[in-house]
Amino acid sequence: MKTAIFSIHDFDSPFLEKENNGKHELIFHSESLSKHTAHFANGCDAVALFTSDTADTAVLEILNACGVKYIALRSVGYDHVDLQKATELKIKVANVPAYSPHSVAEHAAAMMLALNRKLILADNRVKQYDFHLGGLTGFDMNGKTVGIIGTGKIGGVLAKILNGFGCNLLGYDLNQDESLVSNFALRYTNLETLCKESDIISLHLPLNPQTKHMINEQNISLMKNGVMIINTSRGGIVNTKAIVKAIQSGKIGSYGMDVYEHEKGIFFYDLSQEIMKDNMLLLLTTFSNVLITAHQAFLTQEALEGIAATTISNLNEWSKNGISKNDLA
Ligand code: NAI
Repeated sequence: MKTAIFSIHDFDSPFLEKENNGKHELIFHSESLSKHTAHFANGCDAVALFTSDTADTAVLEILNACGVKYIALRSVGYDHVDLQKATELKIKVANVPAYSPHSVAEHAAAMMLALNRKLILADNRVKQYDFHLGGLTGFDMNGKTVGIIGTGKIGGVLAKILNGFGCNLLGYDLNQDESLVSNFALRYTNLETLCKESDIISLHLPLNPQTKHMINEQNISLMKNGVMIINTSRGGIVNTKAIVKAIQSGKIGSYGMDVYEHEKGIFFYDLSQEIMKDNMLLLLTTFSNVLITAHQAFLTQEALEGIAATTISNLNEWSKNGISKNDLA
C-alpha cells in the first residue's frame, strides 16, 4: 500500500521502517497534515496520522480527491479526525486501540512524584551549588486519596501503581472495572464526590463532546485546597482558563500537564528561536508548581514498538481484505 506518513519524527520512523520491512511503500513527511499539506497524499492508498495532524471535513475532502481510502492513526485517541465525514466519504479509519498503557500511567505517576517532591526545583538548586532545603517539603503518597477519572487501560495501570504506594483510590467512569475494586480497593463514586475527597486527581479519558471541559470552574471549586491535578489525557478535558485561575488563587496546589488545550502547532516543534504567542501557555510556564511535558507520556521504546506494529498490521489487513479489526469508521 502506498502510504503517506504525516508528522513523522526521528523517534518513530525507525520503528515503522523496521516493522514494515519493505512491505508497503511508506512516504515520510515531517509536516503535519492540514489543508495545506493534504495534497502530499496524492496517489496514495492510505495516510498514517499522529495526534498533531488534523483530519477535519476540509482535509478529508482533499484526501478523498487524492484517492486516499484508508487512514491509519498512530494513536489511541481519535478526536483529531471527523469520523462521520470519513464514513460519508467511505474512507476507513483505524486507530491503535492499545499500546503499552504503562507508558502513560508511569508518566502520570512520575509527574505526581516530581511535583510533590519538587524534584525540578531541587535539581536546579543543586546545579547552582545551592544545597538548602527550604520550600522543598512534600507529602507521603501513602494514605493520600487519589481520584482516577477514566479507569480504562491507562487509569487501571495507574490504580495498580498507586496501590503500591499505599494510596486510597477513588474512581469515576461510565463503566466500572470490578477487578480494580477487588485488586486495588478502588472505590467507584460520582464526579462530585471524587472532586471533594481527592488529594490528587488524574485524568485518563478520551476527548469527546461529553468529556470536553469536564474539569471546569464549577467542579474545581468543590476540590480540596491545594489539590494536585495531573492531565495526561487530552488538553480539552480541562478548561485551561479555569485551571490557571485556580492556580493563581492557590486552590490548585500543583498541576502536571502532558497535554494542552491549544497544543496543536506548538507541541512536537522546536520553537526555541521564536516569540511565544500563546499567552496562556506563557503564563503556565512561569508557575513553579506547574510541570509541563509536551505530549510525551507515550514516549517509551515499548509504546513505539506497539504503535508501529498495529499501524503496519492495519495496513496489512486493509491490503488483504479492505477491513481491519481496528476500524472505527
Ligand atoms: P480506555 O478506552 O481504555 O479508557 C478510557 C476510559 O474512559 C473508559 O473506561 C471509558 O469508559 C471512560 N470514559 C469515556 N467517556 C467517559 C465519560 N464521559 N465519563 C466517564 N468516563 C468516561 O483508554 P486508555 O487507553 O486508557 O486512554 C485514555 C486516554 O488517554 C486516551 O483516550 C487518550 O486521549 C489519552 N492518551 C494520552 C497519551 C499521551 O501520550 N499523553 C497516549 C495515549 C492515550
